[in-house]
Amino acid sequence: MESIKAPRGVRDILPEESWKWAFVLDVARRTAEDFGYAEVHLPVFEHTELFSRGIGETTDVVEKEMYTFQDRAERSLTLRPEATASMVRSYLEHGMHRGVQPVKLWCAGPMFRYERPQKGRYRQFWQLDVEAIGAADPFVDVEIIALSLELYRRLGLSNLEVKVNSVGCPECRPTYRKTLRSFLEPRLDELCDTCRSRFDRNPLRILDCKNPQCAAIADQAPSVVESLCGECGTHFGLLQRGLEGIGASFSLDKRLVRGLDYYTKTAYEVLSGDLGAQNAVCGGGRYDNLAEVIGGPHVPGVGFAAGIERIVLTMEQQGCFMGSAPRPAVFVVCPDEEARPEAFALLHLLRQSGVAADMDFTGKGMKAQLKVAAGKGALLACILGSEELRASRLAVKDLESGEQHLYAREEGVASIRSLLSNKGISRKDD
Ligand code: HAM
Repeated sequence: MESIKAPRGVRDILPEESWKWAFVLDVARRTAEDFGYAEVHLPVFEHTELFSRGIGETTDVVEKEMYTFQDRAERSLTLRPEATASMVRSYLEHGMHRGVQPVKLWCAGPMFRYERPQKGRYRQFWQLDVEAIGAADPFVDVEIIALSLELYRRLGLSNLEVKVNSVGCPECRPTYRKTLRSFLEPRLDELCDTCRSRFDRNPLRILDCKNPQCAAIADQAPSVVESLCGECGTHFGLLQRGLEGIGASFSLDKRLVRGLDYYTKTAYEVLSGDLGAQNAVCGGGRYDNLAEVIGGPHVPGVGFAAGIERIVLTMEQQGCFMGSAPRPAVFVVCPDEEARPEAFALLHLLRQSGVAADMDFTGKGMKAQLKVAAGKGALLACILGSEELRASRLAVKDLESGEQHLYAREEGVASIRSLLSNKGISRKDD
């Protein structure tokens, strides 16, 4: 029988990589907390309607990319393709709109989209999602963008480009749609099939088509910014002043419209110069009508989501510091079967005293165990065999210098801790 493999487009994050993820998620957590955002854990599946209504029926995500299934009671459920709709659903469901506004939340976890897999694009991928719900102030938009940039600064990322646009609101967007259609109509034959089909349903999406011929036409198209109503224009102006105020470098991109329908006013993306085709390390913007669309009152909101795989890929590419792989400080070496209970008890004592420790469980000889200890990057090997047991002693070998010392068994843990503290390793919770 052929062995079962993981489905196409999903990845196992193995020990060689998982510590890098832990580093990124840890920095993300601290950054979100410093900006006043609280963590939530949301379900990975929701009623399909939440996404079809929230994200928009004519978006690629809803039309082609959702993992939708019927549960045993024949309800239509969908694995979340993104977290914003769930965040707003949760905010409304738990009456958070009745408390102090804005409510600032973040979550991290897997999202699911049936897309064509390639470097930086997967069918299950992780996002850090950050949302400020309940305030229309453009400085909350500035805060959201600032948070994402601060995260990248703390992670040591460089070669990033920040693109900003305003996609207007239901007041001014119809006017722009009309202007855009009049511009595109005489050029319809030159557009790709997808863009032609978008002309009636969602003409703004034509602006971010990657096809070079469509892109050349989109470059000539009138800018949405020129059609903004007074309120959207003022909001966009303040956003830019706020970004200038914090010294953020950004450029205006009139073709930035984003792939999800809920956006109003601010839209932004951060692109990495080191990623290739799938180069967006985060994207976000304002969604003032999303709460209403999913059945709640009018609640403005703004947020962003960052792809963890793409952040890790960029950091690797740029040689950023990503912490280090966890390793045992001590490896307990037990060459004799009869000493195993005592050796295991020592291992347990070390662990209880906060020392990362490990041992061999495959019956290897002394030399092979020492080799494993070195391979795992342990600093000390603590040898406890029949001989040591009889003499009530413990041999501790410094795996860096090769020096070996004998200690009385009852002083074993204390001696090891002091040897480790001389090497600058202290108990994690000290
Ligand atoms: P999005 O632009 O669809 O926005 O996704 C945000 C980020 O998730 C992308 O910039 C990228 O880093 C990552 N990403 C998206 N799809 C994939 C994929 N297939 N494989 C790997 N990474 C991917 C949203 O999801 C919105 N919910 C963002 C938002 C939050 N807007 C307001 N609040």
